[in-house]
Amino acid sequence: MPKIDYSSYIKGSAARYNKIKGNLLLSADGIWFVPDDGGTELYLPIEKIMDAHIEGVLLKKISVITNGSNDRYLFSVAEKDEWKSAISLAAGIFRRVTTGTSSRPVPPSNGHAKLQPNSQAVSVPPPTPTSATQPTPKPQPQKKKKRPSSPKPAQSPTPPTAPAPPNAAPIQSATQAPTQTTPVAAPAQMAPGRSSTIAAYTGPWPSGQDYEQSFQTLKLSMHPSLGKVDQWEAVKNPKTPGWYVYASGNYGSIYKVKGDDNKFFALKCFTRKSENLNTRYFQISDYLLKHSKGLDFLAHFQYFEQGIRTRKSQSFYFPVLRMEWIDGVTLNKYIQDNISNLKILKKVSVNLMNELDRMQNLGIGHGDLAGDNIIVTNSGGVKLVDYDGMYIPNFKGEKSAEMGHADFQHPGRSVDTFSNKLDNFSALVIHLSLSAISENPNLWEKYNGGDPDCLILRKKDFLNLDISPVYKELTAMKNKKIKKLCGILEDYLAHGPLWDGVNPSMLASL
Ligand SMILES: Nc1ncnc2c1ncn2[C@@H]1O[C@H](COP(=O)(O)OP(=O)(O)O)[C@@H](O)[C@H]1O
Ligand SMILES: [Mg+2]
Repeated sequence: MPKIDYSSYIKGSAARYNKIKGNLLLSADGIWFVPDDGGTELYLPIEKIMDAHIEGVLLKKISVITNGSNDRYLFSVAEKDEWKSAISLAAGIFRRVTTGTSSRPVPPSNGHAKLQPNSQAVSVPPPTPTSATQPTPKPQPQKKKKRPSSPKPAQSPTPPTAPAPPNAAPIQSATQAPTQTTPVAAPAQMAPGRSSTIAAYTGPWPSGQDYEQSFQTLKLSMHPSLGKVDQWEAVKNPKTPGWYVYASGNYGSIYKVKGDDNKFFALKCFTRKSENLNTRYFQISDYLLKHSKGLDFLAHFQYFEQGIRTRKSQSFYFPVLRMEWIDGVTLNKYIQDNISNLKILKKVSVNLMNELDRMQNLGIGHGDLAGDNIIVTNSGGVKLVDYDGMYIPNFKGEKSAEMGHADFQHPGRSVDTFSNKLDNFSALVIHLSLSAISENPNLWEKYNGGDPDCLILRKKDFLNLDISPVYKELTAMKNKKIKKLCGILEDYLAHGPLWDGVNPSMLASL
């Protein structure tokens, strides 16, 4: 029988479901509704959640759609704004879980029963009273909201620790680091002078949970070639108590580590196979090093083919990217936080266009410009992360390994869309969106609605501008710059994805 896993508790709020008052809880395992009257709880397992979003701005409705049956659950929450970021974060995670494109960070289970994989939303009896061995509820982050009626905390908070999987042996000490033993098939194309085993690796990639366990024993998990790993310290994410992961996208998860020099850096651990990962990253790293002058816009990084092992793969090290830690927020969060500071949004957009222009002039295309790959730093500068789909001149004539976020890409983009002009369409989408939001901030709430994967325009708008409600509003705006940008968007869509009728410097000067 499933019970709420309070150790993975993320967000709670007073809410109503089917006119019944209670508490809505978002945990890493799913969404729970706990009625105030002690009646049966509703549980929507995370694996079954297809989508979750805020629906009615005025009525403060959260809509949760489950897959399989396409059932839709509507909850009314008291604190819509507080839920908004949590639900959108969760929605992104849910989508990735259900499409299998990334792994959700799953905190260690506390032994509560799991539902059958095919179960739909289920009703379960109220949690049993707290015993000494039960996990302690996290402090409630919401203000003036009720806690769920039970269970009550019995102990001081205990950070969850990941029990080793039943058959897993403990990770051996780093000095005993074994050599890579995974079967090697025909090696993929390699950068000169570098050997590869990951290129030939055909097994499953570690999940977020596998990496989470590795970070608990970081010193034993990292390959000694990365440096003084025995002096490294993994830093837990203060926003998701008990977890090490800071963010996760389609290809990997990001962790924060304090190095032997007491400085912080980021480690990206890959959760999916990406074609020619080694070749690409070694070459990108070499190219960026050579052209590092004037490229502060990109994070400094180093790719390690043999980086981290997991409990399930003790004899095999998976690659990692060691990067400069960027203190800041994603573009989407920055817009949300500064929605009433119109000047700042305009400035960020112009900054971004100028930096993209510099990058393009060095022959580089990022390939996946999107809200979550653009970080606005604490000093108001912009930095790009996620170089998995990057183009550099060495890649001329090759195919791109990634297609980028669809809501920022020309609908005609294909694997052959690969040059330093790769970002022109996304730059236009971003500049048009930010310019429009600066003129009319309501557009953000109305057309983004907490979606972390787009700004205000989506692929469906590009495919059908004629019937796009957001585009209709944009074209009706009086601002000349916006009118011009709309005209450029129409022209661009009539051309191919690498059209050079527009570029970031031209956009910045509008
Ligand atoms: N160097 C870094 N410092 C701080 N946060 C980062 C850094 N690199 C990435 N992130 C955060 O982690 C998220 C996921 O990383 P990313 O490289 O984009 O993974 P994916 O390829 O899976 O999309 C990013 O959207 C960003 O918010
Ligand atoms: Mg990304």
